[in-house]
Amino acid sequence: MFFISLLRSYWPLALSFGVCFLALLPLHSQASGETNTTAQPYSGRPVTQIYNTYCIACHVNGVAGAPRIGHAEEWQPRIDKGIDTLLANAIKGFNAMPPRGICSNCSDEELRHTILYMIDQSQ
Ligand code: HEC
Repeated sequence: MFFISLLRSYWPLALSFGVCFLALLPLHSQASGETNTTAQPYSGRPVTQIYNTYCIACHVNGVAGAPRIGHAEEWQPRIDKGIDTLLANAIKGFNAMPPRGICSNCSDEELRHTILYMIDQSQ
């Protein structure tokens, strides 16, 4: 009898604990799933270091018409070309954009990730 009365008075509490626990479960698995998919193996130098050393000179103030970082409207037409085209243009040079953005020792992988960083900062 005691247990039944205990159950009767505390079941809402027990239920809400259960609901909280269930609600946290998918949240947790979603978060860990996300880190798994976004964590790409990148072996290059930090992209901020490359950007701050080479690209910033033109891409912060829009020298010679360079798309400025942080300006979504200037980046959108570039983004529409797709990252592979942007990378190819950055490697071989594109109008006033010098080959490899003057980072002659940047690998293709480093350039790709630096461009992705610039896009990320401009949306
Ligand atoms: C000397 C100045 C200068 C430097 C340094 C520079 N850029 Fe640029 N960049 C430009 C200019 C100017 C354009 C615009 C070219 C055009 O569309 O006519 C441009 C365009 C781009 C584009 C768009 C290309 C396209 O197809 O639309 C990308 C991507 C890019 N730069 C990446 C970089 C990266 C990454 C670095 C550093 C490693 C860098 N740039 C360094 C001047 C520069």
